[in-house]
Amino acid sequence: MCGIIGYVGKKQAIPVLIAGLEKLEYRGYDSSGVGIINPQTGRIVVHKTQGKIRKLKEILSHHTLPNATLGISHTRWATHGIPNHVNAHPHFDGSKKILLVHNGIIENYQELKHELRRRGHRFLSDTDTEVIAHVIQDHYDGDLFKAVQKAVGVLQGSFALGVICTDHPDTLVAARIGSPLIIGVGNKENFIASDVPAILDATDRVIYLKDNEIAVLTADQVRVFDFKGRKVKPIIHKITFNVDAVQKHGFSHFMLKEIHEQPWVMEHMLKTCLKKDQVVLSGLGLKVRELKNIRNITVVACGTAYHAGMVGRYLIEKLTRIPVSIDVSSEFRYRDPILDKRNLIVTISQSGETADTLAAVREARSKGAKVVSICNVLGSSLTRESDGVLYTHAGPEIGVASTKAYTAQIAMMTLLALYLGTVRKSIALKERKALIRELRKIPDLFQQVLKDKQKIAKIAKQNSHFGCFLFLGRNINFPTALEGALKLKEISYIPAEGYAAGEMKHGPIALIDEYRAVVCVAPQSDVYEKMISNMQEIRARKGKIIAVATRGDRAIRHHAHSVMYIPVVHPLFSPLVAALPLQLFAYHVAVQLGCDVDQPRNLAKSVTVE
Ligand code: F6R
Repeated sequence: MCGIIGYVGKKQAIPVLIAGLEKLEYRGYDSSGVGIINPQTGRIVVHKTQGKIRKLKEILSHHTLPNATLGISHTRWATHGIPNHVNAHPHFDGSKKILLVHNGIIENYQELKHELRRRGHRFLSDTDTEVIAHVIQDHYDGDLFKAVQKAVGVLQGSFALGVICTDHPDTLVAARIGSPLIIGVGNKENFIASDVPAILDATDRVIYLKDNEIAVLTADQVRVFDFKGRKVKPIIHKITFNVDAVQKHGFSHFMLKEIHEQPWVMEHMLKTCLKKDQVVLSGLGLKVRELKNIRNITVVACGTAYHAGMVGRYLIEKLTRIPVSIDVSSEFRYRDPILDKRNLIVTISQSGETADTLAAVREARSKGAKVVSICNVLGSSLTRESDGVLYTHAGPEIGVASTKAYTAQIAMMTLLALYLGTVRKSIALKERKALIRELRKIPDLFQQVLKDKQKIAKIAKQNSHFGCFLFLGRNINFPTALEGALKLKEISYIPAEGYAAGEMKHGPIALIDEYRAVVCVAPQSDVYEKMISNMQEIRARKGKIIAVATRGDRAIRHHAHSVMYIPVVHPLFSPLVAALPLQLFAYHVAVQLGCDVDQPRNLAKSVTVE
């Protein structure tokens, strides 16, 4: 949430900052701003606006901009104060010498503001961020590093900061606790950013700033310290994906591109993790003895990742007979869970920065449980705090609605289930080989669904006028229904509810009439006939039915008004394949309604605040 980019070097800062901000817009997009030090006057110049970065660019195009080589910028997802010009970042201190951008939440900002006000500070905005600038001012005596160091000592909450000061026109100071911040190490130029894509045009060398670290950047040098002021030797990582991975490549939206990337993501994962008939999970971080001793597993995640975890629960229980429970991270962290060292916690997160999931990990580890995380972003906070990490390597996911990360998470849960089943001898060799054979077909099955995209687009358009959708599924495809509903509501804003089909008669059937559409996930499986009964009940009440069914199932046409077919797939792997038509369906409904697919209102890609 919120995107930060800062630059110090030899180039004109503003174009660099704007190009970087555009790559971070998925993190929040209700307002944006940029601030530089004018080398002629020695004063700070700020331009900011409510709205998207294109509006900021429009404003900048009407100004003659100074040739500044130091600057900070920000794209906002509002927490404190409505999205408007005043609340947009960057924020000044009271003397207008210090300028700051911030991602995160300062929990004690009211107390700090009250105290500062008492001592004469005047505030312009409703933000917690402006308070940080004033706290730094309060400690500033000419040494910016020291002032930031002292200020972070009194702040409570989570933050990533970028700070500049007119007395130090060649220096950028950054600090973090709990919110992501990376340093891009360039040639006679250095950057700070909330995420790697922002700096990839300039450099592939990155330092992941850790919690409780402050960095001081000039064009020629990056120095890192802990909050006590002790020097830290940073590790420079080389990024392996290139700038290509964050381009649309002719697709009209990132979401559509990412839907189409799923066959390759899956192929890559299977190639890396399957060696003949063996599952190889490097990074799991647990010894065979520990795996054999696991008494139960708790999956913890949010949103789409939670749905992937639900699918994983069916897979792990089926293949290993280890009891699995699942919790949304925001509930897990507060329910004082009963855990010990024989519990395995599996967390799932695309970004690895979701605040609630990180808090859940800390809670679990403090109680002695081991944590294995399934994560997409290298070096993210989650990966640093877990005992083991299974990377999905799906490549950057820019569209706010998660697609390729979802299927990659399910695939990794499948591999984990197969691995645990092998170690604990709950799956016979013959069964494992047969399952792996079926799993290897998935990339091709994905391609087959994508070949039907025009048909799915047509069904989506025909049904985009419905004001309310119900999504129903059973057993391992109950989470598919939940995810289908989430995808549709988040990008089209149409109210959509996901339900276990067996629950329909316990309430949601009251919704059904000729104005509602019901998406029934009904591939061939043990519960197919039960899904057909549900469809008959919906039809009897004039509900419009859109089915997801297995190719060759002609009979379903007697029950459903439209059918999105998926190829024949092993029932355990059907949630993988059934996800794609539902993603395409949501996408085309949203496009038909003229919605901003990649940046839906009120959402941000990575939820770094509670
Ligand atoms: C929905 C979506 C969100 C995320 C959730 C968790 O399309 O993207 O529901 O799945 O915010 O995010 P991560 O996986 O980054 O922890």
